[in-house]
Amino acid sequence: MELTSAAPPLTAEEKYRLLLEISEAANSQREIAAVLEAVANALPPSIPIDAVGVITVEGEMLSPHAIYIRGVERREGDSWADVMARWLHLSTGEEVAPIIKPPVPLAGSGTEVVGRTGRALVCEDLSGAMRFPEDARLFAAGVRSYVRVPLAIHDQLVGSMAFSRGTAGAFLPHEVDLFEALARPIAAAVANALAFEEISRLTRQLQAENLALRQEIDERFMFEEIVGASRALRETLGRVDKVAATDATVLITGETGTGKELIARAIHRRSRRSHRALVAVNCAALPSSLIASELFGHEKGAFTGALQRRLGRFELAAGGSIFLDEVGELPPEVQAALLRVLQEGTFERVGGSQPIATDARVIAATNRDLAAAVAAGTFRNDLFYRLNVFPIEMPPLRERREDIPILVEYFTARYAARLGKRFESIEKSSMDRIVAYAWPGNVRELQNVVERAAILSEGEVLRVDEPLLAGATGAPLPPSALPLPASLREQERQRIEEALTASNGRVSGATGAAARLGLPPSTLESRIKSLGIDKRQFRPAPHR
Ligand SMILES: Nc1ncnc2c1ncn2[C@@H]1O[C@H](COP(=O)(O)OP(=O)(O)OP(=O)(O)O)[C@@H](O)[C@H]1O
Ligand SMILES: [Mg+2]
Repeated sequence: MELTSAAPPLTAEEKYRLLLEISEAANSQREIAAVLEAVANALPPSIPIDAVGVITVEGEMLSPHAIYIRGVERREGDSWADVMARWLHLSTGEEVAPIIKPPVPLAGSGTEVVGRTGRALVCEDLSGAMRFPEDARLFAAGVRSYVRVPLAIHDQLVGSMAFSRGTAGAFLPHEVDLFEALARPIAAAVANALAFEEISRLTRQLQAENLALRQEIDERFMFEEIVGASRALRETLGRVDKVAATDATVLITGETGTGKELIARAIHRRSRRSHRALVAVNCAALPSSLIASELFGHEKGAFTGALQRRLGRFELAAGGSIFLDEVGELPPEVQAALLRVLQEGTFERVGGSQPIATDARVIAATNRDLAAAVAAGTFRNDLFYRLNVFPIEMPPLRERREDIPILVEYFTARYAARLGKRFESIEKSSMDRIVAYAWPGNVRELQNVVERAAILSEGEVLRVDEPLLAGATGAPLPPSALPLPASLREQERQRIEEALTASNGRVSGATGAAARLGLPPSTLESRIKSLGIDKRQFRPAPHR
């Protein structure tokens, strides 16, 4: 049997250069197979090598990790088995599927021996003597001789590397020396590559988990864009689900800012009317003289200024739904007309005498206690019963505090995205205060507080600096408790009324009450509502 190589030993300088070149090549690669390819290509022609393979230690086991075979193309991302399959294909002409070999035990392996001795192990002819479990594999792959060197980092055995030839024969001492010397930089590169692979694996796993978590959040906590996980909210959403598909009239009750309109929209979207409009009418926003014409339309000449016939909202909502917001504010004559719509499905335009049929589904909302309004005689009893077929009550935020952190995160993400900011976290003490606060303006108020905090917070932590006074006791308030102690409420009312007086009842704008108080108009609106202040009384009397 001929020696494959009888080259003269490298000079010290040549060896030094080679080591440098190889460690540079090795450290510029992240994939171990690429490291091996770089090593094989850096070896001088006087030291021919047919294959370089790395086995890594994984606990008690060994697993083939990467291989470079001269003449076999390596593609990025190839596994050890892919390269072997391609090589077998080259040498046999047969298409071979990659075979994933099961790991073999470290105990009793050549890797264990080199790890223990810290020295190279030379096998001159595999066909003569197979000592280790790895040998059969190498032989099957065409290897006839090899030098195995340990790969260790800080005395920790990472694996081993075999420099192999397809021919039997002795390796010269200077070649073995060189392979041993190469083991050190390559061990570092292999350890790096392993760490990198581990990081990529963990990253992929984390991404998958994040995705799963996000899906879970979506499924558990989100109902359209309704965020929350509390039992109370889930029960409400369960009722929404039940009633959506029917044509039943729905009455949504709850304090200001609890999400009544959101629920109304969700019902419409989940109904088979969703392809038609949801026509919203705020019954409190219109003067009582105009509300009937708004809802039912009017004939030409029905009243001064009625120059044209006009369709009402009920006609616009044909085939769809009509959302009667603040339905408790309807004046008595309109209450009677609405009762007729609910009983007979017909109405008349103002100034008209023809009954017009409507199939619009009615979804109504109110933050007033309609039963109390009935008792007080301001709301028709029969209309109340017709509306109250399927009541949905929105619980106030202070009765479902579990929803608060989720809502804070949701709004933070939303406003951060809008502002082009990124918040990694929410300051703990801010969150504690937010959760303890009584939220008389409910989700709308929370949303406004988070929006302001997002604007004002610099850096990665969202902080709420503004005082949150009401009910900031840390203990959940009993459901019946007033959101604000009477004295604080009175103070707040006074300040708001002063500002409204100064602004002639205007809330927004540069000289509006909101600007005077340093509040966003929407927050002030919700305060005004929650305190039951009538803005109109601050408007100057019309000139005659
Ligand atoms: N569960 C929730 N998830 C996300 N946003 C919510 C939620 N509940 C309410 N909001 C938001 O809070 C604000 C107030 O909600 P909405 O207008 O539906 O309340 P409302 O009960 O109709 O109030 P009002 O009685 O004052 O009319 C809206 O911007 C809405 O998007
Ligand atoms: Mg509303």
